[in-house]
Amino acid sequence: MGWTDNLLTGIHEIDQQHQVLFDVVARLEQAVTSDDKWSAVHFALVELNSFVNVHFAVEEALMRLHGYPDLEAHIAAHRAFSVDLVEIKQHSIRKDVSSEMLNMLGSWLVSHIGVVDKAYVPYLRAGKIVTTPRS
Ligand SMILES: [Fe+2]
Ligand SMILES: [Fe+2]
Repeated sequence: MGWTDNLLTGIHEIDQQHQVLFDVVARLEQAVTSDDKWSAVHFALVELNSFVNVHFAVEEALMRLHGYPDLEAHIAAHRAFSVDLVEIKQHSIRKDVSSEMLNMLGSWLVSHIGVVDKAYVPYLRAGKIVTTPRS
């Protein structure tokens, strides 16, 4: 499950970060069939975890700055994903990670960005803090 332009928010920095997340997920999907599968998957998961934490922190800060009313529910969704991701990352040190687990990460991103992230867009666009819509 990958990136499509339907997932664009029109907020440049957010869109860039979302695309980086999908790039890492695509690398994970390749890693799972590679010869050095175990370490390749693990290190891609480490990278995904580290970048997603930065991304969540940026989104949460922007939502807070713009007084987004559903902030707490959005943060809870981020935390739940982080917990699952850390679990899969830990699991990847001891056992093979299945393609299903990786698909689950991609599916979560698609549905989270497409629904939950899209919900904050009007609030962020109404403020003056976020600029540079994609041309
Ligand atoms: Fe996001
Ligand atoms: Fe989000």
